Amino acid sequence: MTSNGVFDPKRDDNQFNVLLVEDDHVFRGLIAKNLRRRGLNVREAENGLVAKTILELVDNVFHVVISDVRMPEMDGVALLKHVRSTSKVPFIVMTGFSELIEARNAFELGATEFLPKPVKTEALLEAISRCLTPPSAREEAPRQTDTLRVDEFCQIHVDEFISTTSLRSDIYLKLGEKFVKVAHKGDSVPIDRLKKYQASSVDYLYVRVEEFRNYVNLNIQVSNVISQSNVIAKEAKLRVLKHTAEIITETCFRDGFDKVICDSASRVVLDTVRLVGDDRDILSVLANMHSGANRLYVHSVAVSVFSTMIAKAVGWASMTTQFKASACGLFHDIGKRELDPEILDKKRILLSLEEVKALESHVVRGRNILRQLPSLPEDVGEVAYQHHENFNGTGYPHAIKGDQIHPMARVVRVADLFVGMLFPVNDEDRLEPAAAVKKIEKIYEGEIDPQFLRGLAKALNVPLEVPRDFGKRVG
Ligand SMILES: [Fe+2]
Repeated sequence: MTSNGVFDPKRDDNQFNVLLVEDDHVFRGLIAKNLRRRGLNVREAENGLVAKTILELVDNVFHVVISDVRMPEMDGVALLKHVRSTSKVPFIVMTGFSELIEARNAFELGATEFLPKPVKTEALLEAISRCLTPPSAREEAPRQTDTLRVDEFCQIHVDEFISTTSLRSDIYLKLGEKFVKVAHKGDSVPIDRLKKYQASSVDYLYVRVEEFRNYVNLNIQVSNVISQSNVIAKEAKLRVLKHTAEIITETCFRDGFDKVICDSASRVVLDTVRLVGDDRDILSVLANMHSGANRLYVHSVAVSVFSTMIAKAVGWASMTTQFKASACGLFHDIGKRELDPEILDKKRILLSLEEVKALESHVVRGRNILRQLPSLPEDVGEVAYQHHENFNGTGYPHAIKGDQIHPMARVVRVADLFVGMLFPVNDEDRLEPAAAVKKIEKIYEGEIDPQFLRGLAKALNVPLEVPRDFGKRVG
């Protein structure tokens, strides 16, 4: 203990007592040596059982316990359980990517800190410092992992986790309100464990927003390779493309976007649409997509897909036009990234007048954002601006009608309504595709351009009340 009784990672006279539990003796020796250099008294134990015996012999001596998870005789979680039955001594768990489930159990049992393996001395000293510094003395301390905010992370569904031989980013697990780093950039990913995580309700892994781009870039590469492969099943291709589109959208919504991301986004969506062709597999893929991921991203990807489907169904055969449809759908709501998420989650009828005004401003914001991107066709910004205009002149921002509205904005309007019913804010309002098409026909008939509803109905093979000329060419 230093003269003032506070642990100081920079000093070498920290005379606190540490119990270090680790079965790898080389690793244990290394950590012990580094801690002793700072003046700590380190007692070593080769597994949980030995540690338990030491604790029983010399109770209340240790200021902190540092333990590995997987060990013979008695593992770290069992040791923690034992320790917590009698004491509140700070307990630091050293855990790896393959030990996420154990880490979660340890969190529930009251572990104080988590450190990803391989443990770095600096990080360990900081964790010890947090354990041994009274909360009142912590104000000047640098911000720690467990105080990072939710919006500083991007979540990745375990099921969608595309692994390579090594991780491109540090990986975090959310334990209660804390984000715990469980794997370092460069670690290898044990794919077989991923399935087990899901079975144990570890559904999401997290990466820091600033590192998310590495993950996105990796996915773009993977999806390019996969979409061109002849041997990969269509279902698997769709999943990858869908996930890539989702994370690209997430990036755009969070950070804005540059040329690379923006080109990739449209290409991935177009690949997806090409892959799906004219059959209906896309519906089941989109239905699966509904679970978990951020609603706004799912909505954007889905609107993109259905806009492209409508474009195809009404006979817009050129790839350029279909590309435009997919990009317009993907970015139609990009202006919402500047709005308070609370407004976005509320039902429209519950919004105050100011909130409605703010919500409706997303069309102007969207156009402004998209105008800054010369690599996107100009229409994409215009469509974002007009996608809430109604065919009968009752929409916003300008209440223009009929042919005054950009044709692609009329397409997106239909896709947007449809997707809103398929994946609504409240699950109980959710409609099946056929029911959604019919509801649009019944309730929004004047507001939408009927030729594009017919296109949607044709693409989905849903009969409308009054059968119409589906094949009509419009552009
Ligand atoms: Fe919108």
